[in-house]
Amino acid sequence: MRISVVGCGYLGAVHAACMAKLGHEVVGIDVDERKIAELSAASAPFYEPGLEELLRDVQETGRLSFTTDMSAAAGSEVHFVCVGTPQKKGENGADLTFVDAATAALLPYLQPGNVVVGKSTVPVGTAARLEALVLDREPEAHLVWNPEFLREGHAVADTLRPDRLVYGVASGSEDHAAVTILDEVYASTLSTGTPRLVTDHPTAELVKTAANSFLATKISFINAMAEVCEAAGADVTRLADAIGMDDRIGRKFLHAGIGFGGGCLPKDIRAFMARAGELGADQALTFLREVDAINMRRRTRVVELTRELCGGGLLGKKITVLGAAFKPNSDDVRDSPALSIAAQLQLQGAVVTVTDPKALSNAAKRFPELQYEPDLDAALANSDALLLLTEWQEYRDMDPYATRMAVTTPRILDGRNVLDAGKWRAAGWTYRGLGRP
Ligand code: UDX
Repeated sequence: MRISVVGCGYLGAVHAACMAKLGHEVVGIDVDERKIAELSAASAPFYEPGLEELLRDVQETGRLSFTTDMSAAAGSEVHFVCVGTPQKKGENGADLTFVDAATAALLPYLQPGNVVVGKSTVPVGTAARLEALVLDREPEAHLVWNPEFLREGHAVADTLRPDRLVYGVASGSEDHAAVTILDEVYASTLSTGTPRLVTDHPTAELVKTAANSFLATKISFINAMAEVCEAAGADVTRLADAIGMDDRIGRKFLHAGIGFGGGCLPKDIRAFMARAGELGADQALTFLREVDAINMRRRTRVVELTRELCGGGLLGKKITVLGAAFKPNSDDVRDSPALSIAAQLQLQGAVVTVTDPKALSNAAKRFPELQYEPDLDAALANSDALLLLTEWQEYRDMDPYATRMAVTTPRILDGRNVLDAGKWRAAGWTYRGLGRP
């Protein structure tokens, strides 16, 4: 099939490449010329494991191209909208400027039978509004909401082999013409037994926000338990192991630490609260305010713990922050708890050096006032305290004996609870975890 993908960021670039991998003829369209130039040269404009190999692989087949010219969407049967929906400046709601602009830009190229497929995370009600615009221009076109659940760092696998596919169509019924067309798009994914659910538009939009809210709640739940564990002298990691053995609870997303960040969970729960308010259902989501508050409290707690670890004062203390990305295997620093902690420490007089295998250039754009050091050994040199804030494998694998030789004072705060506390203490370190004695 001929497919256009509008928006070539974390979501769209991966989606375009994966659709070409599934055998379709795909054009990726974005207004950002630099991004398009890089993607056209099979180079990923951001770090995502496996993406560059995939881009090279599919570009060799001639099935994938990139352009800034919207008219390249003409002739495609299916048009995916994959643009960002950031948080509005100074407000909790989602900024739909890019979704609206992308849909409006597609309208002149729609043909009867075409399907516009929204993948961005949007406030419930957006699909119905956009469908009206689409039908006004081309009464025989369709609009489907087909939320994306990919995780950064696993985006390629999550797109090619998703847990489930959700199609939101106006009628909410299986016999909608667009269902057959999307089944063709995802034929090879469906052939491996991937479940597919057809819903109405609002349900499909809500599936995404509900899923992200649940994940955020699970993380804040265990972080709340970490607060209690700290007060009671208990160990949240063992508590999570034990409750996670109950199938109904599950161990995934019960890693207590510095909390969630990134381009999705924080802004999605806020946009969800804002939208529920508009719908008169704000009471239903007041708990998400607490989820958000618990999450933000983690950052302040780490600053306090670092002060304690440094003997009561931060002024002039050399702090090494291991990790800038909001999670490992990503160079994304949007709402990164690690960077937010680094910046707060610096504001309070510490001399902070941040290191990260992939995210330093993005970090430097957001927080130019921090000092960055790509070389791990150089970052460790003369440090008064180490803070492990993003659990990259190379930080998990650090040898406490060798690391001890590099620093001035062997103190470590394990913000992700991934190190073996006993081993680090045995090597002479003052070790602090979060929610651990
Ligand atoms: C998330 C959803 O998982 C994905 O389905 C959706 O499509 C987009 O939002 P992503 O933002 O890539 O994906 O990251 P995710 O792996 O969910 O992690 C989010 C944040 O939570 C990270 O900062 C991570 O470090 C943190 N986290 C995750 C925890 O603190 N504890 C955990 O147990 C799990």
